[in-house]
Amino acid sequence: MRRAAGGKAGRAKLPAAVRLGRSGVHGHGLFARDLIPQGERVIEYVGERITKAEAVRREDRRLARLAAGGDGCVYVFELNQRHDLDGAVPWNPARRINHSCAPNCEAQRGRGRIWIVARRDIAPGEELTYDYGFDLAEWRDHPCRCGAEQCAGYIVNGGQRWRVRRRLAAGRK
Ligand SMILES: C[S@@+](CC[C@H](N)C(=O)[O-])C[C@H]1O[C@@H](n2cnc3c(N)ncnc32)[C@H](O)[C@@H]1O
Ligand SMILES: [Zn+2]
Repeated sequence: MRRAAGGKAGRAKLPAAVRLGRSGVHGHGLFARDLIPQGERVIEYVGERITKAEAVRREDRRLARLAAGGDGCVYVFELNQRHDLDGAVPWNPARRINHSCAPNCEAQRGRGRIWIVARRDIAPGEELTYDYGFDLAEWRDHPCRCGAEQCAGYIVNGGQRWRVRRRLAAGRK
């Protein structure tokens, strides 16, 4: 097995300010236990560092699982131009964080690591979310159930959501 980036094998402990729970958005999610102040690094997204070619192979396997009626969850996170992180490992509790079109956290990348950082103060009980930043190309494959007022209905990065709205309004694919 490849070395895990930013973490060790085993089951990682959650930061004290966060708990795991059932999400109204999808499956499980992470929730604030205490107030999390704006700017706080809440949790690191860790996983197996893989090449882009390996990420493509794993995406093909994910699509095959989905077509067979299995789990289509995306856990591969773009790290930099050469590598991605596959966060589908038990020592990555951050893999439970769902996407929102009005997120309270953001992913910050640097020095080969990915941190989930609070964009604003987060109240106890709030679900943690960030913008997955998905590309426009496969927008139809990722319906969004974040429930935000500005939700585009699909998981697409904030800068391109207007294109989804325009396509939906025009009835285009
Ligand atoms: C990294 S997992 C998030 C954690 C997941 N809820 C779980 O229980 O493990 C990413 C997957 O969760 C689902 N997901 C996350 N945010 C979503 C959203 N806003 N709307 C619909 N599905 C979402 C999608 O299936 C996505 O591929
Ligand atoms: Zn949404």
